[in-house]
Amino acid sequence: MRTSALLSLALGTVSVLGGPITSRSTYSVKGSHPVPEGWRQVQRAPADHIMELRIGLTQGDFAGLEKYLTQSSNPNHPQYGKHLLIDDVHNFIKPSKESSDAVHAWLYENGILAEDIDYTPAKDWIKVKMSVADVEDLLDTKYHTYRSDDGRTAVRTPEWSLPRHLHDHVSTIQPTNSFFGPRTQARMDRRKTEAIADMEDIAEYLPPPPDAATVDAVCNTTWVTPLCLRTLYGTVDYTVQAADKNTMAMNDFLGEVSLRSDTELYLQSFRPEALAAAQEFTQISINGGTVQQTPLNETQLEAQTGIEGNLDDQTMIGVAWPTPLVIYSTGGSPPYIPDLTTPENTNEPYLVWLEYVLSLPDPLPSVISTSYDDDEQTVPKDYAIQVCNALAQLGARGTTVMFASGDAGVGTDGNCYTNDGRNASTFLPNFPSTCPYVTSTGGTMSFNPEVPVFRNRTSGLYTGGGGFSYYFDTPDYQKAAVQSYLAKTGVAEKYAGLFRPDGRAYPDLSGQSLNYTIYWNGTLRPVSGTSASTPAVSGILALVNDALIAAGKPTLGFLNPLLYGGLAQAFNDITTGSNYGCGTEGFPAVEGWDAATGVGTPNFKQILALLGVGEKDGNWGSW
Ligand SMILES: *[C@@H]1O[C@H](CO)[C@@H](O)[C@H](O)[C@H]1NC(C)=O
Ligand SMILES: *[C@@H]1O[C@H](CO)[C@@H](O)[C@H](O)[C@H]1NC(C)=O
Ligand SMILES: *[C@@H]1O[C@H](CO)[C@@H](O)[C@H](O)[C@H]1NC(C)=O
Ligand SMILES: *[C@@H]1O[C@H](CO)[C@@H](O)[C@H](O)[C@H]1NC(C)=O
Ligand SMILES: *[C@@H]1O[C@H](CO)[C@@H](O)[C@H](O)[C@H]1NC(C)=O
Ligand SMILES: *[C@@H]1O[C@H](CO)[C@@H](O)[C@H](O)[C@H]1NC(C)=O
Repeated sequence: MRTSALLSLALGTVSVLGGPITSRSTYSVKGSHPVPEGWRQVQRAPADHIMELRIGLTQGDFAGLEKYLTQSSNPNHPQYGKHLLIDDVHNFIKPSKESSDAVHAWLYENGILAEDIDYTPAKDWIKVKMSVADVEDLLDTKYHTYRSDDGRTAVRTPEWSLPRHLHDHVSTIQPTNSFFGPRTQARMDRRKTEAIADMEDIAEYLPPPPDAATVDAVCNTTWVTPLCLRTLYGTVDYTVQAADKNTMAMNDFLGEVSLRSDTELYLQSFRPEALAAAQEFTQISINGGTVQQTPLNETQLEAQTGIEGNLDDQTMIGVAWPTPLVIYSTGGSPPYIPDLTTPENTNEPYLVWLEYVLSLPDPLPSVISTSYDDDEQTVPKDYAIQVCNALAQLGARGTTVMFASGDAGVGTDGNCYTNDGRNASTFLPNFPSTCPYVTSTGGTMSFNPEVPVFRNRTSGLYTGGGGFSYYFDTPDYQKAAVQSYLAKTGVAEKYAGLFRPDGRAYPDLSGQSLNYTIYWNGTLRPVSGTSASTPAVSGILALVNDALIAAGKPTLGFLNPLLYGGLAQAFNDITTGSNYGCGTEGFPAVEGWDAATGVGTPNFKQILALLGVGEKDGNWGSW
């Protein structure tokens, strides 16, 4: 009892001095990250600018979720395929009472009341709208307006602090030091945008009907169509069986749009039986994301807005019709207008999108395709971990999360330096491909055999992204494959100091990614990029899920453990070439998994056969 009395006396004294003891621990730096290349400080941020601060609380049992995911995605584990429901996920990730209390006490002491606060459903993120001046006090920092070389503006600070006693309770706070503006990976010879054919010319190149289909008959390297992809990867004679129980999804960020009028022209030319799908795909606007069906305006035509969005939706429908497609259009990227005192456009688009999709009821789309990526080193590590953990939640709920591996091989020539003050030479891995919970898609070209994509600089240098993370370790599921690759190729010695051989390695798989023919602004265009391979392979995986659902089996969910655990056999191995970049040849493609093309490109029929849902006696399904 005496102890207790003494304690309250002590607390009483402290509170006279200025609040409960917890709030008074000294501040120290919690997050610090250099401003990425291409962004420069313009001026102090206006003190009354309102931003929506997102405080990521340490998740109560992410390790438990991770362990569950490891089991439910491991084909040899009894839990395999037992995807979690939304409430199960929330139980794992909701912060501990201790973390929640500590953070709320601190906010309260800073004048932030309960009614000012919003939460994500699991309460692992706290959202509060505050002026720049108040955030500066709260995080002991100074915000500035920054402008990027390509004209984007953001209010950010490279360094922020927290009272020491909160460091373990808070994982990240944004917007602070993340300048993450995911880049689209579509390459269209950006300055050479002439249409590739007049309408009349199309007939000349249109491939023969499916019953005549061999790869030689329907594939041409200057002219990659859905029929070519479906023939090459073996889905052409598959009939979708579970369109009422399966959906696939894709993301539009950065003002990208997917236009029904162009999709209609595309399907008319390349998959007429799917024509109605152009009017049927679902578009969801998140945080003011652009959902547009009017003609592109001058600004958009100049910026070639819609190339990426059109490529993604046309390819997914072209491959996986009649599986329904959902398109998420998320706003929240710059431009931000410095004198506007609204909270719009300061948010991180990935966090906003993840919050939306993770709060959707079950079942989620079985596959989500994303053709955006950014240099890992430009992304603060705490933020990258939080985004990656959210992507793991999607996997745990049975969604296969697909990302493009990037279009600059091991890094864009001339940019391959660290941003940590050393300016040392390095390869430049791409995030979120480096997150171990996504499936990263690289690029190939040519047929019989397919090789790693390579377009030389005269037409705009383009090679498929691949490499090793500095932030995330090699996950167990790929350790054997990666170690064998390192031993076989000697790249750790050849490129010593340029990458971290014990990092998460990508891509995981790949697909055709050169000279897709899509419609944009009413005319046919050639488009290349891992932006093309990602929706193509995503469409094929949506069809694999269709066969699984029809057979009463669980969907693929987080694919990588299954892929490296045996499904790789059902992929066409790419064994020559490499992914040039950073003035080097990059990583060579060799037998087995490699850091240029992953395990290779999908063979749909072999995948179904290995999963026990292949064709037998003319029927598809379980046998
Ligand atoms: C591929 O298409 C081009 C036209 O873009 C044509 O000139 C060429 O002959 C075709 N190649 C083959 C092998 O059919
Ligand atoms: C891709 O198409 C362009 C024409 O748009 C052609 O010049 C180029 O040779 C093609 N690439 C390959 C590998 O065939
Ligand atoms: C073009 O459309 C975009 C998207 O709706 C809009 O933000 C922009 O202001 C428009 N530009 C012009 C010049 O109309
Ligand atoms: C880093 O080094 C390269 C090569 O010496 C140089 O071109 C570049 O300007 C340097 N960058 C910085 C930020 O110092
Ligand atoms: C790319 O083109 C350059 C000349 O512009 C040539 O020196 C180089 O060998 C070419 N690279 C490959 C891999 O073909
Ligand atoms: C877009 O289409 C319109 C209408 O056909 C045309 O006038 C315009 O030149 C096109 N712009 C581009 C960049 O293709």
